[in-house]
Amino acid sequence: MKRLALIAVLFFTLHNPAFTQLLAQVNAGIPAAPLPEQDTALSALEDLKGDSRYWITVFAEDKYDRTALLEAGLDIVEIDKKTVTGFITGPEMNLLAGHGFITQSRQTIYEYAKKHFKDFPAVDAAYHNYKETVEKLQALTAANVDVASLFSIGKSLEGREVWCLRINPVEKGETPSTRPAAFFMGNHHAREHLTNEVALGLAEHLLERKNDPEIRKYLDTLDIYIAPMTNPDGAEYDIQTGKYRWHRKNTRVNANKSIGVDLNRNYDSRWCQAGASHSPSADTYCGPYAFSEPETENIKKFVEARRNIKTLMSYHSYSDLLLYPWAGKDVPLDNRRDLKVFETMAREMVAFTGYTPQQSSDLYVATGDTTDWAYDTAGIFAFTTELEGGTFYPGAAAINKAVTNNVKAAVYLLSVTEDPYKLAR
Ligand code: ARG
Ligand code: ZN
Repeated sequence: MKRLALIAVLFFTLHNPAFTQLLAQVNAGIPAAPLPEQDTALSALEDLKGDSRYWITVFAEDKYDRTALLEAGLDIVEIDKKTVTGFITGPEMNLLAGHGFITQSRQTIYEYAKKHFKDFPAVDAAYHNYKETVEKLQALTAANVDVASLFSIGKSLEGREVWCLRINPVEKGETPSTRPAAFFMGNHHAREHLTNEVALGLAEHLLERKNDPEIRKYLDTLDIYIAPMTNPDGAEYDIQTGKYRWHRKNTRVNANKSIGVDLNRNYDSRWCQAGASHSPSADTYCGPYAFSEPETENIKKFVEARRNIKTLMSYHSYSDLLLYPWAGKDVPLDNRRDLKVFETMAREMVAFTGYTPQQSSDLYVATGDTTDWAYDTAGIFAFTTELEGGTFYPGAAAINKAVTNNVKAAVYLLSVTEDPYKLAR
């Protein structure tokens, strides 16, 4: 009887409009976006059965086709001479033919995933999840208090701190510096876990060698920032069930209940004009407006407050590429001096990685990305690295080589951060 009454009260309360309104107000004040119940209740495999995405291969002749496909909602993952392959939602896939695109093959993400499933972290225990990343950063900082400090550049949507390790023996935490600065970021895209490892590996490499003259000279002249996991909610969401979800975006619950905004389409650089989608379900969803997401807004504030940043590297995976602006315009930089600096830096860095250097938009035009914004707003020599591995989940075996080679490229970037324009003289 008592229990029935309680249920009745609970039922009434939950269906009371005033209560619902109150609840909405309370929720509005909470930064954490509640994920739909089903995501925790169902197993990963069932989750993917309910995931409306397909893994498809579409004929695409050139970068113009590829840009149009991004706008149609295809999340381009692999590019071949005559085709591209990636994820797309069912409804968007059904519209492709109407846009003149021919689909070569398709399978549901569930079918695709069954063939590629790997556990996390069981098989990939070497990868750092959010908690392990924080612990690693804290340990590195604690062991190197003479040169390192750790601070948050702000909270993610769900309230996780986005940690940034700073290497500077003089200025610690958020105190400004007039030294030329380099800024390295990983994991804008959730499933690109290898990028977190490369950024962490860079921090470790520099700190372990802080007294080697080759490295020390950069520590004594530069201001170095490393934020390995800029989309912690997405990275956790991707592995939350113990199986990979192939999630790209953050975990914003959109109006249509789809999950996520593409952070690398959310910057204010010709925002959502090309190579991005206004459709919330799309993996290339640009968000409701530029910098709508706390993750990108915090990076904006961070960069704007540090006019000493000269170079920037945003790690993505996977494609074996080194990309520089413009990403959102199908023309080369009109500043020839800057172009020469970018091209020279790119050539020097790929000597270590073996990646292909190119202007971003030669791959496809995509607006709202980090590098265009950083270059446009602050004149920063900003690059996107698309790491190696041939898949989002290349396993623990891929970490060493990716870290080793990309650390060399990063150290080269440090070597020109003091005065990038010396490369154009
Ligand atoms: N694959 C990354 C992304 O889609 C890199 C984009 C670089 N920009 C470009 N126009 N190719 O966000
Ligand atoms: Zn990416």
